[in-house]
Amino acid sequence: MEQLNSSISADSRQVIADALYQGVSETTITTMLAQNFHWNVTGMAFGPLHSMFQEIYEDHFEAQDDLAERMKAIGAYVDGNLSAMVKQSKISECDGQMSDQDMIKVMVQAQEALASTLAGAGDVAANHGDKLTEDLCIERGLKHEKFAWMLRAHLS
Ligand SMILES: [Fe+2]
Repeated sequence: MEQLNSSISADSRQVIADALYQGVSETTITTMLAQNFHWNVTGMAFGPLHSMFQEIYEDHFEAQDDLAERMKAIGAYVDGNLSAMVKQSKISECDGQMSDQDMIKVMVQAQEALASTLAGAGDVAANHGDKLTEDLCIERGLKHEKFAWMLRAHLS
């Protein structure tokens, strides 16, 4: 952990960074999941689902960077290796050979898991007096819940 002129202690910053890294890892795995589905989706809803999955991976690609750079701003190291992120993530990679409905279900679960991870990271940040990380986590959590709703709407 880098030495910073910060009101938040190095120990607290490491705890916050660890919570953020959970978010980085799961956002990264879900980026690839969305791209996998974008490529392999089939069925009558191909057009809208192909676009929706693209919207998700483009959003998540930027978000990985925002979360990882917040870790850097608070003085932490970011392990940028995919193998480390796969190990850390509660969201798993999966086979792209499934029905469009199953892809939507898998992606709803991933979005809900991400919303929960980010809400948790926001709580960790708040408990350590880091309002700025809390704000970023809230913004990301809201986005994931919005994606979850949009995906669920395809199933009803
Ligand atoms: Fe594409």
